Formats: sequence, C-alpha cells, structure tokens
Amino acid sequence: MKSIKYFDDQVAVNNKLVILRLDLNVPIKDKKIQDFTRIDLCLPLIKNLSKKKAKVIIISHLGRPKGEKELKFSLKPVFDYLKKKLVSNIFFHTEEINNDTKSKLSFLKEGEVVLIENIRFYQSELKDDINFAKNLASLGEVFINDAFSCSHRKQASIHNIVNYMDKKFGGPLLYKEVESINKVLDNGENPVTCIIGGSKISTKINVLNNLVEKVDNIIIIGAMANNFLRYNGVNIGKSIVEDNSDEIIKKIFSNSKKGNCKIVIPEDCVISKNFDGSGTNKDLSLIKDDEMILDIGFKTVKKINDIIDKTKTILWNGPAGYFENKSFLNGTLSIARKISENTEKKSLISIVGGGDTISAINKSEKKYNFTHISTAGGAFLEFLEGKDLPGLNVLK
Ligand code: 3PG
Repeated sequence: MKSIKYFDDQVAVNNKLVILRLDLNVPIKDKKIQDFTRIDLCLPLIKNLSKKKAKVIIISHLGRPKGEKELKFSLKPVFDYLKKKLVSNIFFHTEEINNDTKSKLSFLKEGEVVLIENIRFYQSELKDDINFAKNLASLGEVFINDAFSCSHRKQASIHNIVNYMDKKFGGPLLYKEVESINKVLDNGENPVTCIIGGSKISTKINVLNNLVEKVDNIIIIGAMANNFLRYNGVNIGKSIVEDNSDEIIKKIFSNSKKGNCKIVIPEDCVISKNFDGSGTNKDLSLIKDDEMILDIGFKTVKKINDIIDKTKTILWNGPAGYFENKSFLNGTLSIARKISENTEKKSLISIVGGGDTISAINKSEKKYNFTHISTAGGAFLEFLEGKDLPGLNVLK
C-alpha cells in the first residue's frame, strides 16, 4: 500500500519556492481573531522553512465564501497576526491568481513569505479546476500540505494542485493527525473506547458503523444520545432529536453485536425548560414533556469515568451537553478531567477532536493533557469513517 511522503529535513528547500497549504480558517468576529490555535500550530513550519531560506507561498481558505470576494472572509486579520509573529518579511497577495501571478511573486527573496488572499474567493478552487490548479502549481517547486483538516475537500489547492507538482509532501501537523488516529484505529492498545457526542446522528452514522467493528466500547453522549434514549422508550420531553433515526439506531445496535462492541448511553441527565435556564439532575424516567435534556447526569459521569479507568486507548469527538451555557458544561469537563488525569498517570492514549469539543474544553481555566488534540472537524470524522480523503490520496 502506498503511503504519504512527509516533509523532513532531508528535503532541500534552500532558495526554492515552497507552496504551503495551511488551514488558517480561524473564527473571526468584527475583524478580530477569536481563537489563534490553528495559526499558532502552523508557525513552527513557516519559521523553519524561512530559516532554511525557502521562499514560502502560503495558501489557505477562511470560512465558506462561495467563490466570490467577500470582505468578511478576508485573511487580512490572519496576515496581521502572522506579521507580528514572524521575523521574516511577509507580504499579502490580494491580486487575481492567473498566468501572471508567477512573475508577480518573483520579487520574493530567500526566507521571505507571502500569504495569498482567501483561496475560496475563486470558483475554480471550489470546482477543483485543472487550469487553476496548474496555475497554483506553477508558483512553486515544492508543495507541502499541512492542512489535514481540509484534506477531505476535493478542491484545487488541496487536490488537483498536487497532480502538477513533482515534489509533494505531507507536513508535520498532517503527519501527527494521520498517525495519531491510525494508531488508535489500527494498533490502539485494548480496550479501545470511543466517546461520540454532538447533535446530528445522521452525520455520524457511518462513523459509528465503522467504529463498532474496531473498538470495544462506544459511549454516546450529547444531543445524539437523545435518539438512542427515545429508541429505548424513554420520554425525552422536548429534547433535540432527529426524525427517522430509529432505523439507523437499529442498525448500529445490530452491527455492534456483530462487532462485539458495547454501546453505552446515558443513565440520567441534566434537564431544563430552556437553553438559558439552570440545570436539574434527573433520572430518565422523570423527564416531563416541557423539559429537555441538556447534559449527562452524575450517574452517567460516574459510569463513563469507570469505563475510562478500564480503557487503554480513547478517542473522543463531540461534547456531552449544551456547553454554551455553563450550567450544562459539567459532563464535558468531567470527561476531559478524567481523560487528562489518566493520560498523565496511567499512560492512556487519548485523541480528542472536533471544533465544538475543543471550544467546550476551552471554557475551563484548567489545562488538560491529551496525547493528541485534533483541530480537524469534518476531516477527522471522514477519516474515522474509513473514507479515503482526496487531499491525502494525491500525496501518496
Ligand atoms: C474546518 O474548519 O474544519 C476546515 O477549515 C475545513 O473547512 P470546511 O469544512 O469549510 O471545508
């Protein structure tokens, strides 16, 4: 089986034009960056290339503009932040990408960096257009994809560009993401537990069906668990639930039996009449019609902690409750605490992923310790599904 070639110190970049596809897609409000994590993680590679006297051309998207220039999706705030963080000269290229771009960037000197404005301002990017990809490829001599979180997208700067580059590599962040998840799925020390939360079961059905064949326990939390509770005949009041999920759940339960995987769902919950209310811990049998489940309860937290104690490898995606209101954050933070403690003390291998999971954990002042934190959302899930990601395939 072909594998990805990763960038390392042996690759000569001195005086070479290096195209770096990064994921600098950070939340921005009123032109201010709300979370710098993704950019900060990319800094070591940019600095390293610059130090080695490469001429670095950074390509990234921000948000989902539909192929048109929309100011709110400009990478300008990211450029301003990079300028503060890098000692090397950095430029912002906002001009059209076309046949002239190569010569327009010829001013770049060794060690300098240019950030290209949001690549999703071009329809051709979204369409994985071959001519556009060729134009992008012509800008550099070496290509590094360090954007695992975008590698599920069949878009020009991730996919077709690679077909026109001789020297193409996965970057260090991509390496860490791919290797960490593979380690869990293929060689995770048993027992392996997956905790899957979030709201929409239909988006995770394939993930769950793939996981039941590979892991020992799947713990279902978050609004997704409501579907399982309703399936088991629990009155879940006015809790968020997805229509027509019974068939999916039936299949998951039947596959889990075949795969010898235990499905664990909540035993109690924290309810409220509305999202901004305060929470009350309740047994499942006591939920009233005008109440909704917004977090897992104490008994469930204890049960999950007991499973974590017996687990050697854990993969977690999706919060346990409506974390936006602190009254419903306890379940998520209790899980984070337990996984973190066991990662430190018992050498538990822990992989935590998903934008919401990270946002929920960041609500706490405490610093948690996980083996790997994935910044990828959709790509992480598609990888867990066992899908071939287009951006990774072309690197092989
Ligand atoms: C993400 O935020 O998961 C990545 O940047 C990919 O973004 P996308 O889902 O808009 O392709």
